[in-house]
Amino acid sequence: MPRAKIISTGSYLPEKVMTNNDLEEIVETSDEWITKRTGIKKRHIASDDQAASDLAVEAINNALKQAGMKAKELDLILVATVTPDTDFPSTGCWIQKKLKIKNIPAFDISAACSGFIYGLTTARSFIESGLYENIALVGVETFSKITNWNDRSTCVLFGDGAGAVILGPSEDEKSGILSSYLGADGSKGELLIKRAGGSLNPTTQKTLDNDMHYLEMEGREVFKQAVRVMKRSSIKALKTAGIEEKDIDLLITHQANIRIIDSLGKRLHVPDENVHVTVDEHANTSSASIPLALDDANRKGKIKRGDNVLLTAFGSGLTWGSVVLRW
Ligand code: ACO
Repeated sequence: MPRAKIISTGSYLPEKVMTNNDLEEIVETSDEWITKRTGIKKRHIASDDQAASDLAVEAINNALKQAGMKAKELDLILVATVTPDTDFPSTGCWIQKKLKIKNIPAFDISAACSGFIYGLTTARSFIESGLYENIALVGVETFSKITNWNDRSTCVLFGDGAGAVILGPSEDEKSGILSSYLGADGSKGELLIKRAGGSLNPTTQKTLDNDMHYLEMEGREVFKQAVRVMKRSSIKALKTAGIEEKDIDLLITHQANIRIIDSLGKRLHVPDENVHVTVDEHANTSSASIPLALDDANRKGKIKRGDNVLLTAFGSGLTWGSVVLRW
């Protein structure tokens, strides 16, 4: 059974940057409040004519370049997103069109902020089963398009971006994805939700008037779940991989809030210098946050061959998941 491995990484952030000071002009907030409560300093915002697939194609092309591969060598496109271009066709199909390739399968995975971990686990299964070899997995979000810019409790938290990886069978015994662990608790779905636009609440004038097409979040309750859930799933994945907490060389958590990241790092006894943080620069980019941080760490030379990397996320659903890999 071949082991699945991340061969390369790539990312893309839209040109427009919105700082905390810019937000002070829009809602009653302050740089001080946002920095203290979240660690966020700025976020990137997609332009009106940029859809999720536009960001994703840039990230995939960057990852292909790093791998020295052409799009036509791909066997599958997997997309983690909850802000797709259209409900259907999938964002994967739009990406395939923009990459100018045909016939290979393409589909989306919806697990919000855990989407990239769900995607890695799906890609891993395809590679290990021998069904596909070269897979492009991209986490991409354009949350600015579903943000209620009058709601200060959410609009300061999110940003847009895309992070991609190319996966393939590992050429050696040691490196690649060692373990994954996924979970969900649908009973807590109301904590983080976009209420309308689906079959439950189809789009009507009433849903528009009631702001039901924007994301809503019970931040405090989500916060309470986050550390507990990520710690539990990290420990399960580490155990399956046979890796002890002290042997984690790099921890990349979902980038939602510096307080959550720091707290998890402490509970897993990972020294601060081994915890990679991008939430200050990117804000919460949901499915894109882990691959954006992974690409940032990779390009800065923070991951060395043979390093044990723990990726862990939680998000709407609730969903959660962790992956342990050896670089
Ligand atoms: N600026 C200034 N004040 C604000 C702002 C703001 N932007 N937003 C809220 N406040 C006020 C509130 O009104 C409240 O005031 P009050 O005490 O007078 O009522 C006070 O600040 C505290 O509000 P809380 O919501 O209790 O603040 P908290 O410390 O919980 O921080 C936050 C809020 C940052 C959202 C935090 O709860 C959090 O990070 N939650 C987790 C979010 C998350 O991780 N989501 C990840 C999943 S995302 C996904 O799946 C798509």
